[in-house]
Amino acid sequence: MRRAARLTFSLLTLFPELLRPFTQEALLGKAQGKGLLDYRLIDLRDYAGNKHHKVDDPPYGGGAGMVIRVDVVERALADLQAQDPPDEVILLSPAGPRFDQRTAEELSGKRHIALLCGRYEGFDARSESLITRELSLGDFVMMGGEAAAACVLEAVGRLVPGVIGDEESHRQDSFSSGLLDYPEYTRPAEWQGQAVPDVLLGGNHAAIERWRRDQALGRTLSRRPDLLALASLTPQDSAALLTLGVSDEQLSAWGAPPPPKVKPRRKRGG
Ligand SMILES: C[S@@+](CC[C@H](N)C(=O)[O-])C[C@H]1O[C@@H](n2cnc3c(N)ncnc32)[C@H](O)[C@@H]1O
Repeated sequence: MRRAARLTFSLLTLFPELLRPFTQEALLGKAQGKGLLDYRLIDLRDYAGNKHHKVDDPPYGGGAGMVIRVDVVERALADLQAQDPPDEVILLSPAGPRFDQRTAEELSGKRHIALLCGRYEGFDARSESLITRELSLGDFVMMGGEAAAACVLEAVGRLVPGVIGDEESHRQDSFSSGLLDYPEYTRPAEWQGQAVPDVLLGGNHAAIERWRRDQALGRTLSRRPDLLALASLTPQDSAALLTLGVSDEQLSAWGAPPPPKVKPRRKRGG
């Protein structure tokens, strides 16, 4: 008998073929081959309950567009519930809380996640009684939830142990460490007058590690200073941030520890 995957995604959509390549190609496809992830593509039209497979109707009260019917969603979810009840039923919607790395980490510990992709004007509001949460990809409106579901698949799937192979690599990713990732370089060592920083070629692992941490701190400070209030910073990080022009007041506002005390040098012969 086939062993159950660590995490199953059920993708409920009006356009299953849009999502299929994400479940078959690259590391997400390989993860299914290894029995780590599994995917079910569920066509909401199969639950339309009419011979024309019509799932939408005009909104009560008038207005533009069509709305996906709640009874269609209910039938699809009841069928899923009867086969393998999901731990989470997530409705993708621009009105939901913003999806982020912390949510991806939380979801990667689940066993079965259903993702509900909307189209048209979205779902009848009563569908909210059938879900565990909503998630938004950001403050913009797409034509459908499939691209958002693909992002959730990519972000959550890669956190499942064994999917990307090297667990160390996602501990260093942007957001996982609380900071943006440091810059990476590969061959050629010199390209159009731009050289790879010397420290990366020197083989001194402690120096490389400190340089990378300093780069991550510098990038986060210039691009996303809001993240520093949530990052776990060390006394060495505080020293690095002070040299980057951050004030003592700002460091304590972020809850950063004081920098290491520098021992005064003894005067010779003193
Ligand atoms: C055109 S949108 C509906 C937008 C809806 N009328 C509103 O303004 O909130 C159709 C579907 O695309 C998906 N969608 C669009 N933008 C999204 C976003 N930023 N995050 C997640 N899903 C989104 C949702 O599944 C939504 O039901």
